[in-house]
Amino acid sequence: MEDNVSIAVLGTGYVGLVSAVCLADTGKNVFCIDKDDEKLNMIKKGIAPIFEPGLDVLLKKNRKRIFLTKDLRQAVENSTVIFIAVGTPFDGEHIDLTGIKHAAQEIGQVMRTVKGYRVIAVKSTVVPGTTVNVVKPIVLEHSGKTEHDVGFCMNPEFLREGCAVEDFSKPDRIVLGVTSKRVEEIMREVYSGYPDTDIVITNPSSAEMIKYTANAYLALTISYANEIARICEKVNEVDSEDVFHGVVLDKRISPVIDDKRIFPQLITYLKAGCGFGGSCFPKDVKALAAFEKDINIEGGLLETLLLINAQQVEHVFQTGVRFFNGLLKNITILGTAFKPDTDDIRESPGVKLAQIALDKGYTVSVHDYAALENTRKYFGERVYYYNNPLEAIKDADIIFVATSWNKYLDISDAEFEKKMKDGAIMIDCRSLYKQRVHRSWRKRIGVCYEWRQQGEFIKWK
Ligand SMILES: NC(=O)c1ccc[n+]([C@@H]2O[C@H](COP(=O)([O-])OP(=O)(O)OC[C@H]3O[C@@H](n4cnc5c(N)ncnc54)[C@H](O)[C@@H]3O)[C@@H](O)[C@H]2O)c1
Repeated sequence: MEDNVSIAVLGTGYVGLVSAVCLADTGKNVFCIDKDDEKLNMIKKGIAPIFEPGLDVLLKKNRKRIFLTKDLRQAVENSTVIFIAVGTPFDGEHIDLTGIKHAAQEIGQVMRTVKGYRVIAVKSTVVPGTTVNVVKPIVLEHSGKTEHDVGFCMNPEFLREGCAVEDFSKPDRIVLGVTSKRVEEIMREVYSGYPDTDIVITNPSSAEMIKYTANAYLALTISYANEIARICEKVNEVDSEDVFHGVVLDKRISPVIDDKRIFPQLITYLKAGCGFGGSCFPKDVKALAAFEKDINIEGGLLETLLLINAQQVEHVFQTGVRFFNGLLKNITILGTAFKPDTDDIRESPGVKLAQIALDKGYTVSVHDYAALENTRKYFGERVYYYNNPLEAIKDADIIFVATSWNKYLDISDAEFEKKMKDGAIMIDCRSLYKQRVHRSWRKRIGVCYEWRQQGEFIKWK
């Protein structure tokens, strides 16, 4: 067993930086490499370049063990394990492995003159076969080494933005797709700070498949819920919240152990919404669907769940238009982060709603608790930005609550009503206000409202 193995992380984005900081917190020395000077300078000052609860604190606490550099050679010379945590975007047709290939080449070139055994660990999400068929040959070619000198691991990351530090520090499992027993031992040492966590030892391609399968499964649940919700909206008196609640009480979904019902977290995905977004689910499912086609599998489920997701934002927008009575001019989006507790707006439903509204010629105002700066970078002067949600809604005809920030729950209906224009409506895209008394100006996604219009009011949770 290698003692207190040193680590290098190439790419200090969401995954790279959080991994580096959390591993440093378990006592490891970690070299962070990024080509982005601005990012490195911020981290050097102890400021995390991304909004992620707890990250700043951990960064400051472990700064003695975190070494920031643009010099890959220095990092590779001083580390046994080199993680690759660069982006793997979807290029419209396939996963784009350009960043991975560059990283593998740069590491290989540096390793040419480096002595001693090294492990290259791929943390980026990549399609099955990438570590063995792409990364390995590039590293071996450019380093002039053999597998006697370098081993490979695929170690997918499951952290969720918004709770990335918590997820990395208390992982559900650690998956190590390794090329040899020696690599396994070194990687176990990397994760020696997590003695109670289940470790899955497998080969690199299976590890790659685990990551995609997990994300596609979660995304599938969301699209399933949204399709069911759309059916519910069309059937008199049906509320999808009641439907899903009734479904999850099945003991195969929520088992009863020692007279206590256990609700798995997966059921939080079983609700009406405006679709999934973020940097992972959309691109990973697209990459898996493209991979499926490439290997001549005629499935269809992955394509369909993507289609349902793409339709859902448009459906939510149309729901607003359907319920609004009057001359529609102004639209406000409350929440542009793709989910709460993050400043990430990649593939965000809130941003998509704003874009649809702009494309249709409406005036758009936006509010978010963390993502306004990123939203401004995206839309520039085309939309109005507000730091205060109640200010953001004052001219709105339709208000879409697109991100379930808890702080939106601090706003009472009376406060909303005081600011809202006459005739304005709110579309609660996340069932955030489902516990509140029904208001005619607020509509939830996934509910059939027609029965209310017949004048009868049935119990409201
Ligand atoms: N963001 C998530 O929640 C999440 C979760 C699990 C897995 N992943 C996967 O992890 C990978 C990274 O995602 P991310 O969100 O952290 O990406 P990111 O875009 O936030 O960060 C990537 C970083 O790599 C740097 N970089 C790229 N090429 C480099 C090079 N050759 N040398 C040095 N630095 C380089 C970039 O400057 C950037 O800072 C992706 O494959 C993603 O799918 C992401």
